[in-house]
Amino acid sequence: MKPGLTITELLTDAARVAFGAAFGLDATALGKVVVVASGADRFGDYQCNAALALAKTLRQPPREVAERAASETKWPDAVDRVEIAGAGFLNFHLRDAWLAARIEEMAADARLGVPVPGAGHTIVMDYSSPNVAKPMHIGHIRSTIIGHALDRLHRFLGYRVIADNHVGDWGTQFGILIMGYRHFAEKDALKDSPVDELERVYVKSYERSAGDPTWLDQCRHELVKLQAGNAENRALWEEFVKLSLREFERIYARLGVTFDLVRGESHYNERLPGVVERLRQMGLAEESEGAQVVFLDDEKLPVCIIRKSDGAFNYATTDLATVCSRVAEFKPDRIVYVTDERQQLHFRQVFAICRKMGIAVDLQHVWFGLMRLPEGTFSTREGNVIKLERLLDEAEARALAIVREASPEMDPAQQAAVARAVGIGAVKYSDLSQNPQSTVTFTWKKALSLDGNSAPYLQYACARIASVEDKYHERFPAGELGAHAVRFSEPVERALALKLVRFPETLMLAARSYKPSVIADYLYDLAQTYSSFYQNVPFLKAPDGVRESRVRLCGVIARTLRQGLALLGIEAPERI
Ligand code: ARG
Repeated sequence: MKPGLTITELLTDAARVAFGAAFGLDATALGKVVVVASGADRFGDYQCNAALALAKTLRQPPREVAERAASETKWPDAVDRVEIAGAGFLNFHLRDAWLAARIEEMAADARLGVPVPGAGHTIVMDYSSPNVAKPMHIGHIRSTIIGHALDRLHRFLGYRVIADNHVGDWGTQFGILIMGYRHFAEKDALKDSPVDELERVYVKSYERSAGDPTWLDQCRHELVKLQAGNAENRALWEEFVKLSLREFERIYARLGVTFDLVRGESHYNERLPGVVERLRQMGLAEESEGAQVVFLDDEKLPVCIIRKSDGAFNYATTDLATVCSRVAEFKPDRIVYVTDERQQLHFRQVFAICRKMGIAVDLQHVWFGLMRLPEGTFSTREGNVIKLERLLDEAEARALAIVREASPEMDPAQQAAVARAVGIGAVKYSDLSQNPQSTVTFTWKKALSLDGNSAPYLQYACARIASVEDKYHERFPAGELGAHAVRFSEPVERALALKLVRFPETLMLAARSYKPSVIADYLYDLAQTYSSFYQNVPFLKAPDGVRESRVRLCGVIARTLRQGLALLGIEAPERI
């Protein structure tokens, strides 16, 4: 097979040649010819419904269209036979020997046959992006976990990814915070949990400002001083940023998340007037009631205020400046933003304005729904703020109990390390395994389940499969796995091979749709098929050759599961 091509691409190319040769179709019509993985065995391994779509234009019954296309070409080696089914579907059956050869290639390839379609392309990924002096809320947690998975996936596909944590470190709240800090902050609390304390004094100051006009005036005054560069306020602001980042950093370390850049909104302050000026010169911004605004009626979007009548700039202005700066600095092909669903309008407006400015970069907003943590998720009462660190502590504690029970003889330090991987993995996976755009409900039962769609289940499967190879080498010390070809003697082996060769196209689909859940679904399905393989087919007791083929297949399954989990940011310990 041509390197760099997935099976769907190989077959789609071939089907286009077939339809082109049979009917002399133009490029647009051929663009509609696509081959996809079949949903069920009875539809073959891959399927194409182009004959149904083209029948009308061609004025021929779909079955005849399908028959002509199928017979008027030489299909690639991969294809054993093409069946015409139902109303005019083309069902492709792959050749066993070809499949087996692909498994051998995967076995020999560190990338498991995954191409690098991103080579030469740059993506800026903007994710996590919590706000200074406020605890991360569930939206930031999901942004961190989903963003990190998309980051890893795209890097693996060869993209140059610049992960930028666009921290909310600027805004009108700092006047209120400075007053709150000066009057209410408590040293000990600041030391123990600085972000909580900053939030507390902020809330207290905010509440006071609501009923006390003098206080509110003082807050405004402190903000003006900060914006004018007053040394004392500037130092306080820096302290707030430092304390907050230190706390966020601790969470990132536990989650294994790192960024290439941590640039706060303040990084773009100086560019804000320039952006407004540029929009005015281009005739895109105009004055309205003392403010500078961009009308977006033609995009069916509400007006976007880029400078308020008091001269202050908005969140949208910062994002416009950020796009300009990133484009100039990194020349990205794409910028991807990962936030919760509440920011959809904001990004639609920002993207529309960028288009009007003629900025040629592909802008994508990947949004996700809320995550619910039902009553009783935490063993201690926590009020209604979801504290990620408490969640992670609890996950590790619960995982440790499981590990202790499963492997009582394991050394305690190792038990703790495994519990960390399992606990953190469980939290991440319960987020990543669901369609990002739905509301997700987190429960421990599901997250830590050993026999359901969970990280522990997959981690356990990895560990168990890896032990097959160890056992083989113990029993057959002189055995040479590589000396035996991969072959299929039971249907489940072919089914496993077919799933394995779909790993590359699964990753491409996950990347295209920005859905880590596509990878999770795939891994779960693979692990389940493996289970029935393991339970129903002898390994070490199989005849010579068959045994080696099975052990080799296990090796590729283990590596695929491990690689898939790694792309989701989940570790798979050697033993559980
Ligand atoms: N700090 C923002 C928030 O917490 C998220 C920022 C997302 N990124 C961006 N470039 N606007 O809501």
